[in-house]
Amino acid sequence: MFTVKVLGISASPRKGNSWFLLDHALEGARKVDAENIVTQAYSFRGKKMGPCLSCFKCVENGGECIVKDDFQELRELWVDADVVLYSVPVYHMGIPGQLKCFIDRLGNSSVGYYNFVTPRRMKIIGAISQGMDLYGGQESCQIFFLAHAALMNCMAVSGDGTNSYIGAGGWTRLSLEHNAMEKLYSEGERDVQIAVKAAASVGQRTSEVAMMVKAGLHVHQEKFINDPRYKPILEKIARERKCAS
Ligand SMILES: Cc1cc2nc3c(=O)[nH]c(=O)nc-3n(C[C@H](O)[C@H](O)[C@H](O)COP(=O)(O)O)c2cc1C
Repeated sequence: MFTVKVLGISASPRKGNSWFLLDHALEGARKVDAENIVTQAYSFRGKKMGPCLSCFKCVENGGECIVKDDFQELRELWVDADVVLYSVPVYHMGIPGQLKCFIDRLGNSSVGYYNFVTPRRMKIIGAISQGMDLYGGQESCQIFFLAHAALMNCMAVSGDGTNSYIGAGGWTRLSLEHNAMEKLYSEGERDVQIAVKAAASVGQRTSEVAMMVKAGLHVHQEKFINDPRYKPILEKIARERKCAS
């Protein structure tokens, strides 16, 4: 058996609706296998995440970004995770700038970090987005995460069926309150029930696929061990197995 590390990232500057849906997604993940799925929730609340300066120093110095803020901590968590679940508020029909800053720097610093080898990261990416409006930009966010997963050599996984076409989406019925979804959920409001169900299924399916991918990589490691693009993930799996035994 392999431990699956699930990192949930709530990219709102407050612990509000994104956090609420993320919580349900992480619960869905743990239900797959309470013993072997380890979840961690990260919130952007109070965090400083400056933009990429386009200096390309990270390419020269092993991936180290010269801007020192909360990027370094989150990058370590991201690199170590098997599943990354993003939960975002829609901002201006897209993802919040804070998270875009992180992703820009993550992508560029990877070039130096892996010494120009583009690793087959094999991480499973799931996404949840919610906004105040019904057609407020949730799909734009979800499509961004599909592109992000592809660009990072990861795999995007959605939830189940018609509740979750390309991930989970929700709206607060025009409320701007941080606890709008929680309130609507407790009142039994239909759209939030669907958003919660979809978030839980994103959590569940991403963990299931990660389990299969890790086990599959282990079984077939002989075939890929000499390919530098698989080295980081195969070494990570070997390290984790040593720690567990
Ligand atoms: C800067 C900003 C831009 C926003 N833009 C949109 C938008 O384009 N579409 C939308 O539906 N809601 C928009 N909203 C509303 C938030 O997405 C909504 O309040 C959400 O529930 C906040 O999530 P949180 O509680 O996790 O912070 C915006 C809010 C802010 C602060």
